[in-house]
Amino acid sequence: MTEYAIEVNNLKKNFGEIQAVKGVSFKVKKREIFAYLGPNGAGKTTTINMLITLLKPTAGTAKVNGYDIITEQDKVRRSIAVVFQEQTLDEDLTAWDNLMLHAKIYGIPKQEAKQEAKHLLDLTGLWERRYSRVKHFSGGMRRRLEIARGLLTNPKVLFLDEPTIGLDPQSRALIWEKIQEISKVQDITIFLTSHQMDEVEEFAHTVAIMDLGEIKVIGSPDELKDSIGNDVVRFKVTEQKEKLIEVIRKMGYEPHEAGDYIEVGVKNGAEFLGEKIREISSANIPIKSIEVKKPSLNDVFLHYTGRELRDAMASFADRINMPGANRRILRRRH
Ligand SMILES: Nc1ncnc2c1ncn2[C@@H]1O[C@H](COP(=O)(O)OP(=O)(O)O)[C@@H](O)[C@H]1O
Ligand SMILES: [Mg+2]
Repeated sequence: MTEYAIEVNNLKKNFGEIQAVKGVSFKVKKREIFAYLGPNGAGKTTTINMLITLLKPTAGTAKVNGYDIITEQDKVRRSIAVVFQEQTLDEDLTAWDNLMLHAKIYGIPKQEAKQEAKHLLDLTGLWERRYSRVKHFSGGMRRRLEIARGLLTNPKVLFLDEPTIGLDPQSRALIWEKIQEISKVQDITIFLTSHQMDEVEEFAHTVAIMDLGEIKVIGSPDELKDSIGNDVVRFKVTEQKEKLIEVIRKMGYEPHEAGDYIEVGVKNGAEFLGEKIREISSANIPIKSIEVKKPSLNDVFLHYTGRELRDAMASFADRINMPGANRRILRRRH
């Protein structure tokens, strides 16, 4: 048996002229939390849809739990669970009944289903609310219930497509916390997507940063942050930005423009400023402020794509929904 839960080799998807995924390759280790990050339109959902066998790749291959996504679709489906970007719960049923219905669809024996449902509602913090109808649930509670429901069938890999989209910061934090707990107590690999890079840097084991259909860089959050230099020095400048960029380039660094800021990755921000401040000042650029900070995954994104995440988001008109497939009846009990 391989040590990988997912192996992807040069996977591509075109929609007519649009190259949504341009040939991505990566491996996800068993029991890992793998974060697939990128702005809207990067190709995250398209990649997931290929891995879960809802979309046929234009080219390339992939294995999920050792099963080929093209020739062994049934086996792939039986070994995974998916929580989609769009909610798929039955609003008129209680949390408990949603789980029981799901168990029935997948042929899980009643006693086993009840025990497992209790465990999963505890795990996701919903046990107290098990008899409330989903229509009275907040967005965060719904997401947690969808995760619990996905876990009922004891999947080997859980796919979560933007599990925190549209949620307030508090609910988002709770979702991330629950995902970490699940990863600790269940024997499961978690593949999640997000456009909120900074939120996953604390706990994702591996991160792939995507932009425009390509993986730009892949590694642990620490590796990625180290790879761009240990500190980020941030200059606020509204005039003569180009001149400042030029000055910093001459020193042998690669600065980036981010709105009103020029940022540069360096080994040690304080030392960099100590050594270079005189040179920078002598250029007579009206710098409004200077700040030294630790890099975030947003800085990593910026470094490898050359653009600020919010610009990338703004340049993408709107998310396109995937073609209608019956997403609920995706898996059967194995
Ligand atoms: N069914 C589709 N038909 C045409 N274009 C699509 C379809 N699904 C996605 N796309 C395009 O593919 C690109 C990637 O989309 P998607 O995978 O949804 O990105 P993400 O999930 O990262 O926001 C976008 O340019 C999007 O417009
Ligand atoms: Mg998406």
